[in-house]
Amino acid sequence: MKLRQLFKNEFLTLLTQGDTHEALFEREIHGHAPEPPLPEEARQHLERWHMPEQGFRNYWYPVMLSRQLKKRPVKRRLLGEDIAFWRDGGKVNAIADRCPHRGASISRGHIRFPGSGTITCPYHGWTYDGTGQLRACIQEGPHSVMPSKVKTKAYPVEERLNVIWVWIGDMEAVPIEEDLPVAMKIPGVANLIHFTKVWNNNWSLLFDNFIDGLHAPYLHRLSPQFLLRKLAFRALDGRPHFQFVEHDGKLLECAHTRGAQRPEARQGLVFEMEYPGVGKFPHNEWWRFRGPKMRPKENFLPGIPPGSFVHGLPSYVHTVHKDLYFTQFIIPVDRYHLYNMCALTGHLDGMRKLAWRLYYNIFSVTHDRIFIGQDTRVLRYSTFGPERLSPLDQDVIYWRKFAVRNARGYMKSQKSKGNEMNFPDESAEFNTLREVF
Ligand code: FES
Ligand SMILES: [Fe+2]
Repeated sequence: MKLRQLFKNEFLTLLTQGDTHEALFEREIHGHAPEPPLPEEARQHLERWHMPEQGFRNYWYPVMLSRQLKKRPVKRRLLGEDIAFWRDGGKVNAIADRCPHRGASISRGHIRFPGSGTITCPYHGWTYDGTGQLRACIQEGPHSVMPSKVKTKAYPVEERLNVIWVWIGDMEAVPIEEDLPVAMKIPGVANLIHFTKVWNNNWSLLFDNFIDGLHAPYLHRLSPQFLLRKLAFRALDGRPHFQFVEHDGKLLECAHTRGAQRPEARQGLVFEMEYPGVGKFPHNEWWRFRGPKMRPKENFLPGIPPGSFVHGLPSYVHTVHKDLYFTQFIIPVDRYHLYNMCALTGHLDGMRKLAWRLYYNIFSVTHDRIFIGQDTRVLRYSTFGPERLSPLDQDVIYWRKFAVRNARGYMKSQKSKGNEMNFPDESAEFNTLREVF
């Protein structure tokens, strides 16, 4: 029975998770709308919490590993915008994928004039540079009247940490260093990075999931990371799992400080409970012989105590893995899809770096596909609608509000659209225990 469950849950997740960017675009050819509106329930939910439908604009987003952009142009969709990326003479460029001439996909085109920094549309050969300026119309000869008249949208693009980043927004781009995930940009750390496939989730469901501390020991209990561990119940006294610390309106730290404050809480870890009239949980899980994970004693992230999870805008989380941070960065594709940048970051020197490089191939399957694949498997089949919140959902509510209040330019853009930022009084929906928050 357990084996069947393992096979069904973990192995099938591994095999069936995600889709390629190309498959997504292939499904949409010949006039399928790339971004149909969300169902009414979803729109109501997002409006209620003032959350954007497809991610916060005015941020740098990671796109792909530098090495993934070679001689051929690559198309990616971010926050509903289709973008053609190409590299010429080492430099990366990004312009709107739709050719202003008659709508061909520029990323299906070619680098016809290496060294000129241009890309040529596959249809009639209109050729654009990295500023989006039309530079030549191949079939119209060098004296065509069009080049001086046509300019398409260009995107600020940068390479850092062996990743290509693009600015999606309406404001002027800020220096990219401001938006690199805080742990990943510490001088001297090593970053092991990869990108997931495309998931069929609205970004906001995963955004909530990042801070939802109570799902982990339940949903992930059969993951490779947790399979052999005793899993303690986290909130038996009804208190929130985390304490929140805001850093400059940029980072939301979730501190696991309760144990330190109340030593008896750590001594009295409970691994098994009887639910009146329902039964015992977990059932006889005799194979869990490893104790709960110990938190690290030191941290390389200034100002953040060891063990704290860190949540950053627009949509990433750093969770603690021994003395390393695991990063998951949501990249909203459109209203129905997202993909992620995953990274492991820490001070890895010499042999340890080599060992982690080798082990990362395994970790990226056991953790980045199976473990977080359990999240996407749940989210994929979740639906928007009214939420009956428990007091312990305060974590999620805090994170939503923090993001909306602090996301760059977001409040201003909402006000200019006439949207007053009144949050629902969710206290009416919580049962009790608000005073402990
Ligand atoms: S559609 Fe691009 S050149 Fe004609
Ligand atoms: Fe999870």
